[in-house]
Amino acid sequence: MMKKQDDVSKTKTSVNPIFTTKLGVLLVTLGSAVGLGNIWKFPALTGMNGGAAFVLIYLLCAVVLGLPVMLAEHAMGREGRKDVIGTMQKLAPKSLWWVIGAIGILAAFLIMSFYSEVAGWVVAYIGKAVTLGRLSTDPATNSQIFTDLVTDPAQSLIWQWVVLLATGLIIALGVVKGIEATIKRSLPLLFVLLVIVIVRSVTLPGAAAGLEFLFKPDWSKVTFTTVLTALGLAFFKLSVGMGCMMTYGAYFRKDQDIPVTATRIVLLDLLISMMAGLAIFPAVFAFGFEPTAGASLLFITIPAVFASMPFGNFFMIIFFFLTALAAMGAILSLLEVITSYLENNFKLKRATATAVTIGGIALFGVPAALSNSSTASWLVFGKTFFDFYDFVTSNILLTVGGLLISIFVGWVWKYPKLNAQLSNQGELQNEKVNKFFFFMLKFVTPVLIFLILLSGFGLVK
Ligand code: TRP
Repeated sequence: MMKKQDDVSKTKTSVNPIFTTKLGVLLVTLGSAVGLGNIWKFPALTGMNGGAAFVLIYLLCAVVLGLPVMLAEHAMGREGRKDVIGTMQKLAPKSLWWVIGAIGILAAFLIMSFYSEVAGWVVAYIGKAVTLGRLSTDPATNSQIFTDLVTDPAQSLIWQWVVLLATGLIIALGVVKGIEATIKRSLPLLFVLLVIVIVRSVTLPGAAAGLEFLFKPDWSKVTFTTVLTALGLAFFKLSVGMGCMMTYGAYFRKDQDIPVTATRIVLLDLLISMMAGLAIFPAVFAFGFEPTAGASLLFITIPAVFASMPFGNFFMIIFFFLTALAAMGAILSLLEVITSYLENNFKLKRATATAVTIGGIALFGVPAALSNSSTASWLVFGKTFFDFYDFVTSNILLTVGGLLISIFVGWVWKYPKLNAQLSNQGELQNEKVNKFFFFMLKFVTPVLIFLILLSGFGLVK
């Protein structure tokens, strides 16, 4: 007989050792980090911010600022063993630190509102690979196909809802083993497929200009805003700054080596982003696309790469399918932040909590989904809803969240508690490493994030 898989997630407030193996923990957490951030956002922002110089700043932000915050979140989550707000209340009772959790829940709603739209485009492109017949390498044709999709309000909404319903069902069932198992298979496959696309892309005539763009820094394009963008991207890609990693930390095994796990996630996430860059930029220059195309970059260049190789349609179907799975891993982690909070705090059934989550996102999501059509002229601070949600979450909520988390760990929670989690209550002999990360969290991370925030908003020069 099949064992019911959702038992664990149904028991409220209990310790939920949902992830069954150490490898499972690594993969599911990596599944949260790797997603559209790597495959869609990283190339888009790199293209818009001048290439290699941006990549280098991004690398620094990920390693120096993203990694310490990630491991802090895992440690806090495992100590709290609750949803974001619950964990903060447990770690710092009778104080205002639960605000970190509240920021997280707001951020999860706003991120999901535009993220589910992009995931919808990815799903739509699986279909396009079937219906388009011959793929094209022509920039104008490919841009038109993308524009037709995103400016159609009905399609925009339908694809977003398809994504929300599908991921909502998985969350409601609590089939965490299903997720674990799916991601275990899909991530390695995505990796292999990326290698195939890279080989094609870098061997195109004229590909060298793309490699130069990605690896030869031109510092003249860098401003303070660029640094803030890179920091926001680093946090976004690593799923840190809003308690997503805290929520997953609550499901970590007792014997999980947190510093090693977090370091692996950061490195693998970087690798996959660089691979996406290598798949896209050589083709951009070979076929004469604009590197600054932004949100459309993935959708107009990747079909061109497939157009120039045998069995292109077939590979394009698999590519967008795997990208959809990568997005799914990330979406599930975002939904889990909200759902686990509703479940614990309002004692809702898991299914009800999921329905409320999905419904809320669908509402917030409508103006974002229609940002290229019906609501294109509704501007908030000069941005469409889509861009506004994206900007506010990456550049403000995640960075402020990361700042608060590092201040909390460095100055309130303090070393003995952090060390107890990072060393598995003294089981691991990693005192030096833990001291180093504590030092970063206490002095370096908060100061740097603070300065980047101020300069990004033009408050210091
Ligand atoms: N990291 C995911 C990506 O790169 C997106 C994501 C999942 C996320 N959970 C998050 C972003 C929490 C910010 C915060 O696609």
